[in-house]
Amino acid sequence: MRLDKYLAESYVGTRKQVRTLIIDGKVTVNGEVIIDPAIEIENGIDEIRYKDEIIKHPGKRYIMFHKPAGCITAKTDEKHKTVMDYFTEEDRKGLFPVGRLDKDTEGLLLLTNDGEFDNQLMHPNHHVSKKYFFWVLGIITEEKKELLENGVAIEGEGKTTSPAKLEIIQSGKYDDLETQIPSYGYDTSNIKNDKYVQMVTAGYITITEGKKHQVKRMLKAVGCYVIYLKRMQIGQLVLDEKLRLGEYRELAESEFENITPFLKIDIF
Ligand code: URA
Repeated sequence: MRLDKYLAESYVGTRKQVRTLIIDGKVTVNGEVIIDPAIEIENGIDEIRYKDEIIKHPGKRYIMFHKPAGCITAKTDEKHKTVMDYFTEEDRKGLFPVGRLDKDTEGLLLLTNDGEFDNQLMHPNHHVSKKYFFWVLGIITEEKKELLENGVAIEGEGKTTSPAKLEIIQSGKYDDLETQIPSYGYDTSNIKNDKYVQMVTAGYITITEGKKHQVKRMLKAVGCYVIYLKRMQIGQLVLDEKLRLGEYRELAESEFENITPFLKIDIF
């Protein structure tokens, strides 16, 4: 790998900045000052130092994050708290979120510094499945379930959605189930007084597309309003519930293999 690429990937600076550092004689390779940014070095064998500190290449990183509600999926934002705010300054270097979850959605979010992984996982042709747990206002009848599973027309889209999988867990009066519904970003204060909205349903929905607000829009298309949403699974990768909201960890090798889109995970 070129010396300037190695330093840039190790977050010493941008490619342009590290070239200047090298040309200015600030970088050593195996104890020798090197002023050629294009020189080839071997990661793990050559010792690279800047300001007398050994610069370790971070390698590719794949992080599982348990996203809480109330933060947006972005690298930076002037107004809102972002998912990156949960990472230490050291840990967040070079990381970016893979895909996105809405501000009020909880659950499994992956972060990486590997652009190719992001491209592959998000590529619409790979149809990587995403499983969500939801609570909605309303009832999901057999008819509605079938509609959602076969493909439903959602507002603003020309085509109906791809096949999905629905699993209804329970359904009942809001008053009876209220204590089971996680308190969340949605304003449910007027539900009790709304005589038209008395029933709620909990379930899982698995989709293989990633349109904006897709789950909410699909459920809205059958007259249901999402009041809680949590992503549980991407492909075969399941959210580690030992991670509390806002916590993160590196993916284990076996987990990485499970999520690799080239495996063409087929849920149906
Ligand atoms: N679908 C949604 O509506 N919101 C999300 O955050 C993810 C999927």
